[in-house]
Amino acid sequence: MDIKNYLKDKKELVDSFLESYFASPLTPKTLNDSMAYSLSAGGKRIRPVLCLAAYEACAKDGNAKTEDIVPYASSLEFIHTYSLIHDDLPAMDNDDLRRGKPTNHKVFGEGMAILAGDGLLTEAFYMLSNNRQSAAGLHPEAVLKVIREIATASGIHGMIGGQAQDLLSEDAEPDEETLAFIHRHKTAALLTASVRSGGMLAGCGDEQLFRLTAYGENIGLAFQVIDDILDVEGETEVLGKPKGSDEKKKKMTYPKLYGIERSREKAKELIDGAIEALNIFDEKAEPLRAIARYMIERKS
Ligand code: IPE
Ligand code: IPE
Ligand code: MG
Ligand code: MG
Ligand code: MG
Repeated sequence: MDIKNYLKDKKELVDSFLESYFASPLTPKTLNDSMAYSLSAGGKRIRPVLCLAAYEACAKDGNAKTEDIVPYASSLEFIHTYSLIHDDLPAMDNDDLRRGKPTNHKVFGEGMAILAGDGLLTEAFYMLSNNRQSAAGLHPEAVLKVIREIATASGIHGMIGGQAQDLLSEDAEPDEETLAFIHRHKTAALLTASVRSGGMLAGCGDEQLFRLTAYGENIGLAFQVIDDILDVEGETEVLGKPKGSDEKKKKMTYPKLYGIERSREKAKELIDGAIEALNIFDEKAEPLRAIARYMIERKS
């Protein structure tokens, strides 16, 4: 399958929703501009795309109304973008470039960057709970489950826990257990929730959800391993963020513990595991398989 075109089509669906969301500016306009700046700066939209792809993989025949779940999928991009704005702050990774543009705090100041992040996070949950389920033909119970899923993955039991351990582990000698904890929480948790949410919205069964979880956990960890490798081997212009950021902050990373080659092998094993987990699905899961393969090849 042509994964480049698939990613492009789905990204366009999400981008047009995100664009329309902040089209009528709120007051103060600076807050609106700050949120819109980081959201519209680009980005792969991989979390919403995974949600849409998992939804399609599980949808009962002829019942995949992908457009209807775009707001749910897009909420994941609100949360992810907020996490990047805060991750770049001087008190965290202190980076100046994101998605090929100056970081939010460089343009709007630290205070407004913190608030733009807070705004995006809160708005994500407003959007998720804003009674869209009847239009999309979704069961309220499924929507509640998705809200709980995303809250768990992005909060103290997921991404925030990982980000906290990431900060606490700067300058520390890397060890396998801590490193796995950081990566599973700061990155894999939200990616897994993206996949699971798509399945839940499609009303998937227990076995399907179990397999989607295994897929998500594997690609999620691989995604951050590749991110660490790209921080060493990538090019700032292609990455759209500064190469060498981890070294500068003495972060605990896969290349630091295992070296580049062994890290790449680990990522490859995880991707193979992810694809294997999908073996109960038919060809509707082909995009999920192709996304897994794409992850290992990505340069940005
Ligand atoms: C970067 O995420 C931060 C990590 C969790 C590794 P992405 O690589 O998905 O960044 P964008 O959204 O494409 O900019
Ligand atoms: C960030 O990990 C994970 C988040 C939850 C934002 P990194 O700090 O490695 O992400 P980049 O490299 O700045 O995108
Ligand atoms: Mg970080
Ligand atoms: Mg960072
Ligand atoms: Mg990184």
